[in-house]
Amino acid sequence: MVIKDVSLEIVCGVSSRLPETTLPEVAFAGKSNVGKSSLINALMNRKSLARTSSQPGKTQTINYYNINHALYFVDLPGYGYAKVNEKVKAQWGKMVENYLHGSGQLRQVFHLIDIRHAPSENDRTMYDWIVKSGYHPVLIATKLDKLKRSQIQGQLKLIRTGLNADKNTVIVPFSAETKQGREEIYGILDGILND
Ligand code: GTP
Ligand code: MG
Repeated sequence: MVIKDVSLEIVCGVSSRLPETTLPEVAFAGKSNVGKSSLINALMNRKSLARTSSQPGKTQTINYYNINHALYFVDLPGYGYAKVNEKVKAQWGKMVENYLHGSGQLRQVFHLIDIRHAPSENDRTMYDWIVKSGYHPVLIATKLDKLKRSQIQGQLKLIRTGLNADKNTVIVPFSAETKQGREEIYGILDGILND
């Protein structure tokens, strides 16, 4: 897939209803600071259209990026950000759950996990949530550039077992720095568009 045309088209806050879209959607879910917005920028070939930040909790809305007038990338707000209060956490959960259940156009969920760490309780909850909503997520192991080559296979195994993901679950190691893994993700997107 070659991405030529992108724009941030819809920003959906806590109190807004989900938009009624007509294009297929792919969503990006994961812990705060795991690299969702960075992955979206890397796929779009933009440095900063999706706002990234070293401070977790940057994206607190559901952002829809129109890609080539053919599909939407949906950047979901990150979970597991310790500094927000319970009310905000509950709002987050409602928003994401509402999205997973309510979007009629969602075709694939990319679930991002930091390759350096074993999945957390929150990661497991999110994963189970996606599966229970009827999707078979593609796992993206982010920040690949932070590991030595010799560590990669072991960490991928840790992610798979930690989430109790079955052996058919695809895990793509990815780095927003080196763009490693990007072609494989484009391939998955092509598969969705040609469906
Ligand atoms: P929220 O919007 O808070 O949920 O975070 P996010 O998941 O969108 O994370 P974001 O893309 O903003 O990245 C968080 C931090 O991690 C930033 O400082 C990024 O530069 C850094 N980062 C993201 N991806 C990579 C990567 O592949 N390699 C390295 N080294 N750093 C990365
Ligand atoms: Mg973000």
